[in-house]
Amino acid sequence: MSFQLVLFGGTGDLAWRKILPALFQAYRHQTLPKDGRIIGVARDKMSDEEFRTLIGERLQNVEGEKRPQTAEFSEFAEQLFYQPCDLNESSDYTALKQKLDNHPADICVMYLATAPHLFTTICEHLGACGLNKETTRIVLEKPLGQNLKTNREINATVKSFFSERQIFRIDHYLGKPSVQNLFALRFGNSLFEPLLSRDTVSSIQITLSEDIGISTRGPFYEQTGALRDMIQNHALQLLCAIAMEPPINAHADAIRDEKLKVLRSLKPWNTQTLRSDIVRGQYSAGLVAGAAVKGYTEEAGVAANSMTETFVALKTEVNNWRWAGVPFYLRTGKRMAEQDARIVINFRPTPHPIFQTPHGLANQLVIHLQPKDGIALHLFAQGQALSYPGQSRAGNNVHATSEISAVSGSYTPPTNSSVLGPLLSPVQLNLDFDQRFGTDRVGAYERLLLDAIAGRLNLFVRSDEQEAAWSWVEPILQDWETNDTPLYTYPSGTWGPSQSKVMIASAGHQWDED
Ligand code: BG6
Repeated sequence: MSFQLVLFGGTGDLAWRKILPALFQAYRHQTLPKDGRIIGVARDKMSDEEFRTLIGERLQNVEGEKRPQTAEFSEFAEQLFYQPCDLNESSDYTALKQKLDNHPADICVMYLATAPHLFTTICEHLGACGLNKETTRIVLEKPLGQNLKTNREINATVKSFFSERQIFRIDHYLGKPSVQNLFALRFGNSLFEPLLSRDTVSSIQITLSEDIGISTRGPFYEQTGALRDMIQNHALQLLCAIAMEPPINAHADAIRDEKLKVLRSLKPWNTQTLRSDIVRGQYSAGLVAGAAVKGYTEEAGVAANSMTETFVALKTEVNNWRWAGVPFYLRTGKRMAEQDARIVINFRPTPHPIFQTPHGLANQLVIHLQPKDGIALHLFAQGQALSYPGQSRAGNNVHATSEISAVSGSYTPPTNSSVLGPLLSPVQLNLDFDQRFGTDRVGAYERLLLDAIAGRLNLFVRSDEQEAAWSWVEPILQDWETNDTPLYTYPSGTWGPSQSKVMIASAGHQWDED
């Protein structure tokens, strides 16, 4: 199959940090169809050759084994081309069309890696010059819009030129191998599925913490903030993956129907929960991995009095039969203590204790997404030898004494605290996917790009899902616009404002790392 991939925003941050490295990996894994052309589109005037050189230099920033060697990059670069384009200029789209028509391909993927406010303009121009053919697919980066209204407007315009089956709304978290494995764990095994419900689960936490700041993305981040950047999409998609019902099959719409039901079941906000169940924060100067870093308002492109949040923690519920009453805690932040993305499922304690157990260290299933992906089951086990009468090890001799008393016929029922058996130790069953499957696995963007080229929609977000997610965050955005809600600062290199601990503690829980 031959393809053309037109990358709008072809010289931008996302293109060279994520998309082009992913295409290069696909080339390396020999999964990128050889008969394909990747056409970078941006405003600067540049030749194909200059674009190749620029991308070659930028890809040298890729870390470790994923960095291209000169010879292999030269071969990959033969698939790279460039077309200058002022996105508001019709004649530039005509020139783009000419470039595409010179090398017809089976399918054409238009990847919009630009600021979302340009999406409608680009679609209108593509439509006007006939670049919205049946064989065209369009990939839209997140966040799609600034709020529910703009999301609806963008979707309406895009849908007037492309049908839903041609629209690939990307959320790269869905392409992560760990998320594929979450689906495999839940729907490819029967072991855990019956355990994931209000009967056995006491709470679920989703943490997406980053130690990096906003880097050079100040102006973008000022318009976006953590709620739009991470919660409205990545965190909610993960919540769906953990809370959804098994789909009837693995087709895109079957999966998306189930995710949609979860999004529509999220507990609506009210004036009280908008205050009690959400904490927003912003990083101040601090130390990350021993190095001093600036506060958010000192970053380039950020207003000195900015009220943009770089941290959000919130509590919600999924109001349906499976999950009613189980708190779901979501948390994300920049410049936090470490990079850590994980889903923690806390199971209820045993209904009646017969052992001594350290508090809160087991009965957990943890899905690790980053920096390494894996699954860990935290259990209690008996690691210490039992002690016998005469031994003084705290905790064990009480149990033994009761038994002896019973045997000698002078048994008296022990008090509650004295019936507890040995002290158990926390242990873990660990599945490390790098160890099991190797480190050279297909990354999120690589997977999603190949899916878009192949026309597989399973891991892309449908417009109704996106609307449901925007509808749910809308009251928070509106509340924050009033600026009455406190914005707490937290020193860089920490786990966010202390109020986030207070919020979760008020429901009797604590964050997993506390
Ligand atoms: C992007 C956000 O969608 O996800 C970034 O815009 C964030 O702000 C990034 O850093 C995190 O992705 P990952 O894959 O590095 O966890």
